[in-house]
Amino acid sequence: MESAPLYRQLAQHYLHAIETGVLKPGDRVPSVRTLMELHGVSLSTALQACRQMESDGLLEARPRSGYFVRHRRHKPLAPIEEPVATLPDPAQYVGIHERISAITARGHQQPVAVNFAGACGAPALYPAQGLRNAAARALRLHPQLFGSAADSGGHPAFRAVLARNALLSRITVAPEDILVTHGCTEALNLALRAVAQPGDVIAVESPTYYGLLQILESLGMRALEIPSSPQTGISLEALELAAQTYDNIRAVVVVPNLQNPLGSIMPDANKAQLVAWCDARAIALIEDDCFSALAEGDAPLAALKAWDRSGGVIHCASLHKILAPGMRLGWIAAGKWQARVEMLKYSQSRPNELLAQMAAAEFMGSGAFERHLRRLREQLRSQRAQVAQAIAAEFPAGTRASNPNGGLHLWVELPGSVPSEAVFDQAMAAGIRVVPGVMFSNSNRFDHFLRLNCGTPFTLEIERALRTLAAVVARLADKP
Ligand SMILES: Cc1ncc(COP(=O)(O)O)c(C=O)c1O
Repeated sequence: MESAPLYRQLAQHYLHAIETGVLKPGDRVPSVRTLMELHGVSLSTALQACRQMESDGLLEARPRSGYFVRHRRHKPLAPIEEPVATLPDPAQYVGIHERISAITARGHQQPVAVNFAGACGAPALYPAQGLRNAAARALRLHPQLFGSAADSGGHPAFRAVLARNALLSRITVAPEDILVTHGCTEALNLALRAVAQPGDVIAVESPTYYGLLQILESLGMRALEIPSSPQTGISLEALELAAQTYDNIRAVVVVPNLQNPLGSIMPDANKAQLVAWCDARAIALIEDDCFSALAEGDAPLAALKAWDRSGGVIHCASLHKILAPGMRLGWIAAGKWQARVEMLKYSQSRPNELLAQMAAAEFMGSGAFERHLRRLREQLRSQRAQVAQAIAAEFPAGTRASNPNGGLHLWVELPGSVPSEAVFDQAMAAGIRVVPGVMFSNSNRFDHFLRLNCGTPFTLEIERALRTLAAVVARLADKP
């Protein structure tokens, strides 16, 4: 796999110089011409590096004078701390639906000017034109498409492209062992229904994506929340302790890569250990791999299924965050439960319609897909950096934030015990939507957290909204 583009390497070099104090605020960085000579790079590489540092807020351009190191008004944000407790809460029937629904309804009562609550990027971040062209071509080539029944299991070309793409995550799966679904949401529902019954205990990360809690609630299953590290994901020690208390854990559901909301990435050793641990206990392991294509780094991240030897890992993913939020395309490779999952899908919703699959297959089968992902990762990296910088500059002292190696979100810990639901309500009154931490657990452990989406290009409006949000937090923090 390729390493970071040259301009990024150059920007990284100067970031290091700024962080170590070699270059200080107000210092002029070498001119573009000097950069070209010093580093043997082209004009466009030198310019791109400077523009990236400018858009990351590290440099400012002064007309006819060049680029200067910006004055930072803040210290870097402290990271989110590791969880203290290693013992999970008792397994509970999830009772979070009313809370989530009430907050979601309040969030949609009025239009907002700035939305930090989404789980995908802004429309401009996705290749609308390329997908539109591919869809138009599919319809032209198959004029009877809407009059014909859809292939069960999914369109062959789409499944073939998914199977080829899975190789990057070190998964070897035949196209016919991939079932196309309505997003990852349907995949997770099918996976859970295939391996568990109402009343069963399902181990999940804590905090976890609230959609998963809603699914568990709707299926009448009990969530066992396992403490999870903001760096390395689910705590395997805590899981082991949980298994000593509960002998009826039916499945473990994890987001191994860029967990929502933590942004954690499980190291390969932990992935291997978790797969072996579940295998030894005949516990189904369901992985939700929606975000891994948004991770930075030289090599793609491995999926848990890469270590699966017995068919015990169910791999679920979707295009919602990485390519086309409007297509609602997901998939599942369910290993030894594949036949049962196919039956459940057939009984629940029948096959997905074909047009979106055909368009996605054409786009993903071309070089345009990798180019799009590279651009998307780069945009998100810059947007996350700018939001983090604004938080560091504007939020009250004691605020902490995650620093994920990719993805859409920042997980922000508010100082003291500022209640995130109050922040949500006051922000809504100011036309800003956020996701309060209370939605990510059946417990109240994350009441003073917010999840902020960084998927919208950073503008003055976003900067102002973050300032308003900071003022809301500061007011609530000052309350006795
Ligand atoms: C971790 C995780 N899994 C699943 C989903 C839902 O995926 P989809 O939109 O493909 O149904 C989301 C959406 O935010 C998510 O964050």
